[in-house]
Amino acid sequence: MTRKNLSNKTVMILGGDGYLGWSLGLAFANRTNNKVILVDNLIKRNWEKEVNAKLLIPIKKPAKRIAAYNGIYNKNNLFFEKLDLLNKKELDKIVKKYNPTVIINAAQQPSAPFSMMNAKNASVTFLNNIVGHLNVLWSIAENNKNIRYIKLGSAGCYMDTDTNFLPLEKKDFSFNHNGKKFKLLKSFIPMQATDFYHQSKISDFLIDDLCAKLWKLKVITVQQATIFGATIEENHSVENETLSARFNYDAVFSTVINRFVCQLVIGHPLTVYGDGKQKTGLISLSDSVENIMKLTKVKVTPGEHTVVHNYTHRYSIEEIAKMIAKVDPNANINYIKNPRKEPEGRLNRQVELHDSIINQQENKKAKFETEIAKMIEFTGRHKDNIDQSIIMPKVLWDKINSEKKESIWNLKYITKTTQILNESMKSMKIRYSSIMNSL
Ligand SMILES: NC(=O)c1ccc[n+]([C@@H]2O[C@H](COP(=O)([O-])OP(=O)(O)OC[C@H]3O[C@@H](n4cnc5c(N)ncnc54)[C@H](O)[C@@H]3O)[C@@H](O)[C@H]2O)c1
Repeated sequence: MTRKNLSNKTVMILGGDGYLGWSLGLAFANRTNNKVILVDNLIKRNWEKEVNAKLLIPIKKPAKRIAAYNGIYNKNNLFFEKLDLLNKKELDKIVKKYNPTVIINAAQQPSAPFSMMNAKNASVTFLNNIVGHLNVLWSIAENNKNIRYIKLGSAGCYMDTDTNFLPLEKKDFSFNHNGKKFKLLKSFIPMQATDFYHQSKISDFLIDDLCAKLWKLKVITVQQATIFGATIEENHSVENETLSARFNYDAVFSTVINRFVCQLVIGHPLTVYGDGKQKTGLISLSDSVENIMKLTKVKVTPGEHTVVHNYTHRYSIEEIAKMIAKVDPNANINYIKNPRKEPEGRLNRQVELHDSIINQQENKKAKFETEIAKMIEFTGRHKDNIDQSIIMPKVLWDKINSEKKESIWNLKYITKTTQILNESMKSMKIRYSSIMNSL
């Protein structure tokens, strides 16, 4: 495709080197005539090195992946810009240059264990996820309020919320205290995390709500459930492997089904955290991509924060392990001490769904089985790349483990800063009282 054939719609995908971002970019570019701009600072490649995470299939540099796409699909509508969202000035330049119709933000530090490793990683997660997102909102508000902003949130924000009902819209919530009834007016359900990563997503959610209202922006937050799957239509075949998405299978960056399937294909027991009764929302990579593509078209009202729960299934970790283990008569399941803080599976959640998501709920069981079969076939092709030493969890939520130096450094820094502040306050007081005395 030449540039002349492009539609005048430009979709900008932040996090375009990532698992979801690259898959979305590929699908948008191949299935539409939109111009698609992938934006990423490639920081995940560094984080992976830091924690010794390896990929199922090593991914090439963005320019090479795009050249492979152009060659395979004979198109020329996918582009890449290297940019850190923390750099507001450069972000503005890119937003001005392309003036996109839609910005999808999938550019964040996406791992709970990574955020729980040490003080440095917790701060990196907060800084990256909150300030990066804030910069995008400011840039949209300053440059073009018509840009539709689709922000990836996380269903894990509801992790510690003890209710069976997750609404899409603001509601009044009642509670009793000391025998009296109180109401929380027009609120999204109180969200509560059990780790720093999900806490950063809760802050994001609230920032979306604030900015949509403040500046009359068109904001959609996708409360994304755990994604599973390695491929979409565009990159499943052996011939299209150069288009593979990033696929993490290690204990820090992988999601549960992706990890279980890799364990299965190498004959490793499937490791269930705790008793496995904790439940999680799930959706395949291909369904998630389709749903997010639809969100570029649904009606949105400026100033209203639209919330979408993106999931198709809800299973307990034990149920998932049993379904996957059924595929191989030799497969075993091991129950290990839960490294995380997760509530038991007592909640049978009713999750309100946006119209655009509802049709993905059809033929759920069959779809789930097909996706798992596709995944087993794909990971099986690459099973020799799997390093089993990186699969077992090492980060414990309730233990201040490793990197103590970081915390001590931070403590020293805070103590020093407090001393400096105290001293300058003291000298201000002395100066103030001597001025007063001289009057
Ligand atoms: N994968 C899941 O199961 C899942 C579930 C719920 C929510 N999400 C959310 O979806 C989004 C995408 O997740 P993913 O699994 O594709 O993660 P990923 O790590 O594969 O991709 C994220 C990409 O963003 C880039 N990035 C990070 N910070 C950046 C910055 N400051 N500037 C520019 N680029 C930056 C990284 O380099 C990486 O390529 C995240 O917001 C995540 O929280 C994912």
